[in-house]
Amino acid sequence: MGSPAIRDNTVLVTGGAGFVGSHLVDALRPNNEVRVLDDFSNGHREYVPDDVTVIEGDVGDEDVLEPAMDGVDLVFHQAAIVSVTESVDDPRHSHETNLEASLKLLERARHEDARVVVASSAATYGHPDELPVTESASMDPTSPYGVQKLALDQYARLYADLYDLPTVTLRYFNVYGPRQQGPYSGVIATFLEQARAGEPITVEGDGSQTRDFVHVSDVVRANLRAATTEIVGGAYNVGTGERTSIRTLAETVRTVVGSSSTIVHRDPRPGDIRHSRADVSKARRELGFEARIGLETGIRALVNETDLGVSIDSDRPVVDSPSDQR
Ligand code: UD1
Repeated sequence: MGSPAIRDNTVLVTGGAGFVGSHLVDALRPNNEVRVLDDFSNGHREYVPDDVTVIEGDVGDEDVLEPAMDGVDLVFHQAAIVSVTESVDDPRHSHETNLEASLKLLERARHEDARVVVASSAATYGHPDELPVTESASMDPTSPYGVQKLALDQYARLYADLYDLPTVTLRYFNVYGPRQQGPYSGVIATFLEQARAGEPITVEGDGSQTRDFVHVSDVVRANLRAATTEIVGGAYNVGTGERTSIRTLAETVRTVVGSSSTIVHRDPRPGDIRHSRADVSKARRELGFEARIGLETGIRALVNETDLGVSIDSDRPVVDSPSDQR
């Protein structure tokens, strides 16, 4: 499976000043002309290097979207309201951002004939019947966020089928790593902040719910593979294939930080899924992607501020079974 590096492309990263998007920009920018479209609702200017063109605005605003997409070869669509809780509190607002704006982007991509790598989510599965969850599992999201990502995920497939638009969809499991911050950020960022401050670590529910935590550098690598794969129109789980309970996570974070925080329990979260763990075989087979960073390594790197960044030149696909030898 050959997978040429991404070079000399004009690339748009929506949400490029945000958590996942800004790491992607770091990986792409040495070899490509990179643009960032971000409304800075959750992004940070200091995450974007000075030589990258920043367009400030909403993906859903066509006056902003059209010039941002003008002449692009490749789009990584990361902009979203990523918080399940926020979507439960205000479904219409998250619908506009996560779905309506995304549809405008897909339309614009048709006009430009640009490849689109779409950020979807494990939240599309809801409560999976079986773990690990495969891409062909039934999809019954438990939150507006999950419904919005499911619709986007299906639109991406449909745009490939109906209009020959080269789309690749990545269903992110629980992404963590540097630059994840803010009141609605992921549980690892929250627990780290609490442990560092010596405040109680707040476990929602009994803590037996599980997640597949994947480091952002692995997510960047999955995106790079999705940008060059010859197989378009598909959706891929992006996880590690391991799952960890939230209670265990709280204890691990406390230990790695060396904190004396207590662990307290709160009410479970409405719309929360119970268990999540990716079947990673399709991504390995078709994208040559496999996560490299285990949870404890990733948390230690976060605490010690060790850079686990990824460069296009260092990324090589995994080829580990005969079916990979295309
Ligand atoms: C996360 C992502 C979502 C992604 C999905 C894929 C964020 C904010 N959300 O949703 O974008 O599509 O994974 O699976 O990154 N929890 C606590 N205490 C806290 C915070 C959270 O116990 O202080 C628990 C929650 O109740 C939940 C689990 O930790 O059971 C994970 O929560 P969270 O990090 O918000 O992620 P998801 O809702 O899984």
